This record gives sequence, C-alpha cells and structure tokens, in this order.
Amino acid sequence: MIAVSHLSKTYGERRALDDVSFTVAQGEVVGFLGPNGAGKSTALRILAGFLPPTAGEVRLGGVDLFREARAARRLTGYVPEHTPLYPELPVRWYLDHMAALEGVPRGDRRRRVEEAMERCCLAEVAGTFIGKLSKGYRRRVGLAQALVHRPAVLLLDEPTDGLDPRQIVEARELIRELGRDHTVLVASHILAEVSLICRRAIIIQEGRIVAEDSLEHLGLSARPDQTLVRLEVRGPAAEVRSLLEGQTGVAEVRQETGEEPGVVRCLLVVEGRQDSLVREQVVRRVVEAGWEVRSLAAVVPDLEQAFLRLTGDGAA
Ligand SMILES: Nc1ncnc2c1ncn2[C@@H]1O[C@H](COP(=O)(O)OP(=O)(O)OP(=O)(O)O)[C@@H](O)[C@H]1O
Ligand SMILES: [Mg+2]
Repeated sequence: MIAVSHLSKTYGERRALDDVSFTVAQGEVVGFLGPNGAGKSTALRILAGFLPPTAGEVRLGGVDLFREARAARRLTGYVPEHTPLYPELPVRWYLDHMAALEGVPRGDRRRRVEEAMERCCLAEVAGTFIGKLSKGYRRRVGLAQALVHRPAVLLLDEPTDGLDPRQIVEARELIRELGRDHTVLVASHILAEVSLICRRAIIIQEGRIVAEDSLEHLGLSARPDQTLVRLEVRGPAAEVRSLLEGQTGVAEVRQETGEEPGVVRCLLVVEGRQDSLVREQVVRRVVEAGWEVRSLAAVVPDLEQAFLRLTGDGAA
C-alpha cells in the first residue's frame, strides 16, 4: 500500500532523510520509531504530499505520489505533529470544511462528517468551538479530519503527544480500532506505545533505517534458545571481557556504558536454557581471577533495549 524507495530529504546542509526505503502492506499497522530529530515527521510530511523530497519515489496504492499527486493525496489521511485547527470554528463546521477541501462531494459531506465524528467519539462536542476543547479532544478532531474523506492510509505523527494518561489509553484504543480497516503508519518515539499499537516497527535514526522487523524479532535477539544476563564486575575492562568471552555457554558479550568508573558492565547472551549453570561458572571464574562481582541480573528483553542497541546508544 505504501512503497517508499530511496527517499532523501535535505534542508540546506542538513540531511533529514538519507536513502530511506520501506513498504507497508495493505491493512498493516506499522510503527515509525526513532529518537527526536530522526526524520520521522519529515518522512510523514513527504508521504502526506506536504513536502517535496530531494530524491526518491513514493507509491501509494500503486499511485505515484509525485506524478499523480492529487489522486495519491486522496488516499491518505494525515495527522501532523501539531494539528493546525481553527479555534474559532465549531467541530462540525470545521470537519465539513475539511471534507470540502478534500474533495468530498457536497451530497456526501454531511454523512461523512457524522461518520468521522462517531468514530472519534466527538458527537457530544459537535457544536463546540475547537478552541474550547481539551487537548485530547482536539487530537480527536485532528483524527476525524484525517478520516473524513475515507482514506485507505492513515499517517499519524506522535498521536498521543501531550495527552494525559487516560487520553493516551483512549487514543491508542482508537488507533488500534482504525487499524482494522486502514493501513496505518504511526510515528512515535515512545517504544511502549508502538509495541501496544503495532505489529511491526521501522526504526529510524539520523535519517536512516537501522532496523525493520516484527516487534518480537526486534526484542533484542530474544531467541527462545538464549537468555540474557547483565553482569557488573570491578576489574580491568579488556581482561574482564576476554575472560567472559572465553566461557562455555556464553555466545556473545556486549559491553555497555557503566555509571561507575572501574566497573565493567556487560550483557551476556547465554546459549540454552541452562543459564543458571553458566551464571554460576561465570561468577566463579571472575572471583578466581581476583575481581569483584558487583551485580548479576537476568534481563527480560524489551523494545527499549533493542532500541538502544540498534541505534547504538548506550550499548557497545
Ligand atoms: N524545516 C526545516 N528546516 C531545517 N531543518 C529541519 C526542518 N524540519 C526538520 N529539520 C531537521 O531535520 C531533522 C529531522 O527532523 P524531523 O522533524 O523529521 O524529526 P523527528 O523524527 O520527527 O523528530 P521529533 O521526534 O523531535 O518529532 C532534524 O535534524 C531537524 O532539525
Ligand atoms: Mg517529529
């Protein structure tokens, strides 16, 4: 449904997107995950047809976004980071106006507006001025506006940003619900959010895709036949590492940035389910070498760690 190939965007000297390619199949809900400044909003703005890229191609449902811009734009509903809404308009008027701009025929407009309001639970505020709505409701108006022309693809930029915890839960529920009959690309820097809403994530950093996979697979090499152990040892880094690497059952040693000077922090990937034996043996060897074990903990893989590792922040 979404096919992006070799997309690049430079702002003057600044390269916001660098040769980005990915696809999103029809009906998929995909997270576009990355730290601040990664290029998420830039990519979404391009996909929504609001920003021309420096290079690359985008096809939406087979339609070339740049050659057949009008037709392609009809296919997408876009909720920008900061939804520009008109505070002086009542919700229903605003949506009707946006429907007209999106080319919804006059005869269908009323029905489409009611439909979008119903989906986003806006019926009770239909006559309220947008400026008087809470942030959560304003976000919903933004979503309703993106839905009003019945697009096949939804592009959502940080859809729960600035909402309170209850509104966040409601917004995620709504997005999941919309995912049943739309192709959705959700930009977010919140890992938990993406893992709750999406099946698959595309991870972007400094304008480049660093990983793209199902969330299970992204969960830090969490192969069912491996376990992860974090170990802190007071001792000389290089020697500690080489000792750990030499242990039977230790498949990989990833050194992490520790907080304390003189303490080496490593993440051990341990083969097999017999990790307690390996742990005992590792502790024994460290002590025999005359170093001190500061801590030892089993690590439950999660997206947060996967993210840090994939974006090269924190982990070795
Ligand atoms: N209009 C602009 N002019 C110049 N540089 C820009 C412009 N818009 C974005 N950038 C730069 O491009 C890079 C990517 O920005 P972008 O807004 O796409 O990131 P993002 O992933 O959405 O970040 P955030 O999580 O903070 O929303 C950043 O370095 C940003 O400073
Ligand atoms: Mg952004």
